[in-house]
Amino acid sequence: MTHKINAAITGVAGYVPDYVLTNEELEKLVETNDEWITTRTGIKERRILKGEGLGTSYMGAKAVTDLLKKTNTKPEEVDLLICATVTPDYFFPSCANLICKSVGIRETASFDLAAACSGFLNALGTGTAFIESGRYKKVVIVGADKMSAIVDYADRTTCILFGDGAGAVMLEPTEDGTGVQDFILKSDGEGCESLMQKGGGSAFPPTHETIDQKLHYIRQEGQSVFKFAVTRMADISAEIMERNHLTGDDIAYLVPHQANKRIIDATANRMNIGEDKVMLNIHRYGNTTAATIPLCLWDYENQLKKGDNLILAAFGGGFTWASAYVKWAYNPK
Ligand code: UT7
Repeated sequence: MTHKINAAITGVAGYVPDYVLTNEELEKLVETNDEWITTRTGIKERRILKGEGLGTSYMGAKAVTDLLKKTNTKPEEVDLLICATVTPDYFFPSCANLICKSVGIRETASFDLAAACSGFLNALGTGTAFIESGRYKKVVIVGADKMSAIVDYADRTTCILFGDGAGAVMLEPTEDGTGVQDFILKSDGEGCESLMQKGGGSAFPPTHETIDQKLHYIRQEGQSVFKFAVTRMADISAEIMERNHLTGDDIAYLVPHQANKRIIDATANRMNIGEDKVMLNIHRYGNTTAATIPLCLWDYENQLKKGDNLILAAFGGGFTWASAYVKWAYNPK
């Protein structure tokens, strides 16, 4: 039986920096403790990118270099590269442009996409549409963030949460029925004030005052974000399962955004799946924003089999939230 053209994930790669920032080290910076962080979030440690002048594109380029190698792709074969990030090296040129330059992808479409923690799923949906249209044959989707660049290490409510990292997937057309089956992307700007980096953009360009007021740092009303995240991520996962007639038994893995273990547990409960079917790396990397989902796929790649049904789900600043139903396209190599 032939199927319509789907966008299949044909490879995955990731990069996390070497430096490990542990809960114990954070105890020396702010009034916190390992027990609080572990029970409230599930995080034990996160990776931090050190090095003068190294930005998000450095990590993205590492992941894409590995991806091209793993998928046996020459840089000139790539038709489009999309980078989901809220911490680009510069406002412009885009992080995607810089990654292309680093890995030798020239004269190719590339752009950034900003949807905070739902960025990777929004980029996956966008890349999928380009593949399904028949316009492009090889699309690289990157999720990368250097959150340490916008974290205030004197604010215990945020500095314990975030880490740095990058993940990337290759999308290619397939007619064998695998690949991205469906996705749902949602946003509501009413949530803007609850989770944002207020300064440094065009509304509040950087001045001595904006720096003094710490407006260039991420600010989050944890509890109100939590309430939305816990319902919206579960709702959008249930919605995509229902409209594709899937039950918990049909799902091989939930691939959730890694913001808080309690939000992940609530989503898995709603989907009626056990812990063994939930991809988890929050304890090792914390919340890497756009990178969490591709980093999970990278960590679990060897456990995935062709035909496995995955539900990917995220919630983040904006607010934005999203889910995708993916039928995995290959066996471990
Ligand atoms: O990825 C983007 C989307 N973001 C999310 O999904 C994050 C959603 N929010 C959360 O995950 C949680 O709200 C947090 C992990 C950020 C916070 O957990 P919480 O259970 O909501 O804690 P809370 O903000 O209600 O704070 C409880 C207490 C407070 O003390 P009092 O007022 O009860 O005395 C805080 O001051 O814990 C205190 N607290 C801390 N204590 C030790 C806050 N941060 C810390 C800390 N260490 N790091």
